[in-house]
Amino acid sequence: MRSLSIVLLLSLPLAGQNPADDFYRDARDKKPEVYAIELRTAGIPEEEIARRLDLLTNHRALLEADRWNRFYGDPASNYSRAPNSFLTAVLNGMKPGTALDYAMGDGRNAIYLAKLGWTVHGFDMSDVAVGLAKQRAAELGLTIDATTCTDAEYNFGRERFDLILFSWSMPLADVRKVTDALKPGGIVVMEFGPGFVGRNGMLHLFDDLVIERYEMTRAVSDFSDRRETDIYRLIAGK
Ligand SMILES: C[S@@+](CC[C@H](N)C(=O)[O-])C[C@H]1O[C@@H](n2cnc3c(N)ncnc32)[C@H](O)[C@@H]1O
Repeated sequence: MRSLSIVLLLSLPLAGQNPADDFYRDARDKKPEVYAIELRTAGIPEEEIARRLDLLTNHRALLEADRWNRFYGDPASNYSRAPNSFLTAVLNGMKPGTALDYAMGDGRNAIYLAKLGWTVHGFDMSDVAVGLAKQRAAELGLTIDATTCTDAEYNFGRERFDLILFSWSMPLADVRKVTDALKPGGIVVMEFGPGFVGRNGMLHLFDDLVIERYEMTRAVSDFSDRRETDIYRLIAGK
């Protein structure tokens, strides 16, 4: 009986993974209509094509969450487990306040902020990532308020945060929610690599704020298999 339970457990997908979404790896970067032609050519039944197109067109957040659950559920995923180096430099000498970690992933930055005495809130669409963040915080005896949701669903509130962090993330929901959620005098700290917005695009993400610092540099990415890449960094204040 015990060995049967073990076999059943081993045959379950890893937490947060939906095998019916396996196709997304191949489909993610294709236009749905182009992907549909490929599927028809390959003889995939119309019902299955319709299911995939519905997910791609109407429920992409579910597919993205599944994708990131796979990423964070795989111990072999190649990303930095250390806090983002731009963030650590910015925080140096800064008085702790209240921070929001926007799309916090496994909480590497949220936990660093909490260690420095910040009150930390964060959210991410991947429940596996948020689970890792909560587990690590509990192991370290730290408190972070971590929520599983998309940015469109998150309740940002008004004038709550001294710092809003975008570490290898960017606002996909209404950016006014971000600027409204900053306290007067608060800052947005942002870093990402190519593929997020076009060249100089970061400069225009927060037109209601004042850009206090912007730089482009070349360094090892925190993600993208840790390849050397162009990296963009910004601090903008309210
Ligand atoms: C490249 S990772 C960065 C994670 C974290 N900020 C860090 O630096 O370690 C991007 C994260 O964004 C999350 N994400 C992507 N789109 C999202 C959305 N619309 N709402 C919430 N989280 C999202 C993913 O689940 C993933 O954890």
